[in-house]
Amino acid sequence: MEITKVRPVTNDDFESIAIIHKASYGKDHLTSFFPINLLKVYYKSIWDKNSYAFIAINEAGVPVGFVIGGNNLDEPIKKFIRTHKLALALVLLKHPKFILQRIADRLKKASEQKHTSYAFQLLSIAVRQDMLSKCAVLLLGAFERQLRSNNIMQYGLSVRKTNIRAMQFYEKNDFKLEFETATLRCYYKNLK
Ligand SMILES: CC(C)(COP(=O)(O)OP(=O)(O)OC[C@H]1O[C@@H](n2cnc3c(N)ncnc32)[C@H](O)[C@@H]1OP(=O)(O)O)[C@@H](O)C(=O)NCCC(=O)NCCS
Repeated sequence: MEITKVRPVTNDDFESIAIIHKASYGKDHLTSFFPINLLKVYYKSIWDKNSYAFIAINEAGVPVGFVIGGNNLDEPIKKFIRTHKLALALVLLKHPKFILQRIADRLKKASEQKHTSYAFQLLSIAVRQDMLSKCAVLLLGAFERQLRSNNIMQYGLSVRKTNIRAMQFYEKNDFKLEFETATLRCYYKNLK
């Protein structure tokens, strides 16, 4: 099935976004274990502050991919964590490997940079398995057109080094390496 439309995300899209996220993100992402409702709130809280998000729709009218980003995402993400401490603690208790991962991260040199230094970030891009190689580039194109039209000419992102497919996708789409740690890579892109 082909993509018929890539359009800006609206308030009613967050259930679809959460479903696509859960079906496509690997199990090394804590968010892939979030219940659908928590994922909906997570993405909506980012979008409420930054309406840089697009959704891809297939011929049957079904949403099959999305991209979302924004400026200074630390603030809405920290607020989401503060507001949903209990729900997040439950997810962590069910998946204790992430608790160990967090402890290991804390033990690392405090000075080690863990996120891209670019203020504008692509937070998440995901497509349904049956849409691989079909729509991510369209979503990225729509996202970048909006950035250009708002005079945002560079942005960054981070990706786990285990996510080979995503790294290939970014490299193929002209992202450059900003830096890497033992577990992640940060990329940036200058728009023309
Ligand atoms: C990241 C993502 C949106 C990219 O979309 P995509 O449709 O896979 O992207 P593309 O097919 O255009 O590019 C991926 C590239 O990975 C490479 N690739 C293809 N199959 C691969 C595989 N099995 N393993 C590793 N690399 C592979 C190829 O270079 C491919 O490009 P090409 O086939 O055109 O040469 C998609 O893979 C996805 O939804 N992943 C799950 C969510 C995710 O991890 N998001 C990123 C978080 S940072």
